[in-house]
Amino acid sequence: MQVFLTGATGFIGGPLVNALLVRGHRVTALVRDPASAAAQALQADGAELVVGDVSDREVLRTAMTGADMVLHAAGHYELGLNKAGRARMTQTNVNGTANTLGIARELRVKRILYVSTAFVFGQSDGRLRDETWVRSSPPQSHYEATKSEAHELALALQRAGAPLVIACPVAVIGPGDHSNLGRLARLYVRNLLPPVSFGEGTVSFVHREDAVAGLLHCLERGQLGETYLLSGGALPVREVFKIWQTTPGGLQFIWWWMPRWWAVRYCAVLEPLQRLFGQTPLFSADLARIAFMDLQFSGAKAEQDLQLKFRSPRQAWLDTLAGERRALLGLGGP
Ligand SMILES: NC(=O)c1ccc[n+]([C@@H]2O[C@H](COP(=O)([O-])OP(=O)(O)OC[C@H]3O[C@@H](n4cnc5c(N)ncnc54)[C@H](OP(=O)(O)O)[C@@H]3O)[C@@H](O)[C@H]2O)c1
Repeated sequence: MQVFLTGATGFIGGPLVNALLVRGHRVTALVRDPASAAAQALQADGAELVVGDVSDREVLRTAMTGADMVLHAAGHYELGLNKAGRARMTQTNVNGTANTLGIARELRVKRILYVSTAFVFGQSDGRLRDETWVRSSPPQSHYEATKSEAHELALALQRAGAPLVIACPVAVIGPGDHSNLGRLARLYVRNLLPPVSFGEGTVSFVHREDAVAGLLHCLERGQLGETYLLSGGALPVREVFKIWQTTPGGLQFIWWWMPRWWAVRYCAVLEPLQRLFGQTPLFSADLARIAFMDLQFSGAKAEQDLQLKFRSPRQAWLDTLAGERRALLGLGGP
């Protein structure tokens, strides 16, 4: 099949392109910077590159013409953004999704997959939830707000008959993850984690390899009109730290777990300071709010309907930390 894909240079998109090529598909990938190492690697693997942005409607239309399947994985994930950053995020996550999915439908592409996120379901209110869960909590970050708006657009297209499958990965972890979680895990492996932490919440995790397998299955044989959560299961934030502490590196004792009110204020103060030093904020008020969220989501429907098996969140973390440690020791990795 001829597959057109956005987000190919990302943490999830890179291995996804590899998986598509291994399955024998021909892949055309939208990239913003064809000279980047990630874009060059895609080309070396056999993908055709098209240069553009998800705001370039004409580029998208030309690149998607003749595609059998479209996979929209481009997205902007960042916490602690200033006003200009939030506007850019809306442009990519909301307008970019409207452009990509809308044009794919106009061109009558046979199968379309949209990569949403489990954040669109909001908080799970203390229990493991599935795709039928209806959110009742307000968004805790601009990312959650923009992806929720994009998800609604995708649902509206499904209702209008578009041949569209929606996949909702939970927090995707694995070596080389540049999200805040991945950055914290690398600090742990390097013995640089501060002895204070926060988070009374529960988060669901899926290993990147399992998420990629899930997306491939959703694209090839997901039921059109359906939504699939991709999740290995949930863990309390404190349990995550305990799992890290069973492995070499890091800090064996956290002497203070901040309460929510303190963590949000403390991170809100750190946020502009990190920006001042040219850093993408690791500690932000968004991160502190998320660490106290209840995000328990099940991947049982995808496992059952698409014959998948997601590893447990504990195993996903052990594999992630082992990969980070190999990379630190120069033994290969991300
Ligand atoms: N990682 C997770 O935990 C997670 C969980 C649930 C859902 N998701 C969703 O999965 C998708 C991929 O996430 P990821 O973790 O792989 O993110 P990522 O590593 O940050 O990659 C984002 C990708 O989107 C591309 N992109 C961003 N803005 C774009 C624009 N305006 N036009 C064209 N391309 C653009 C990036 O291109 P450049 O290389 O040019 O920046 C990159 O290829 C996103 O939609 C995200 O919301 C991620």
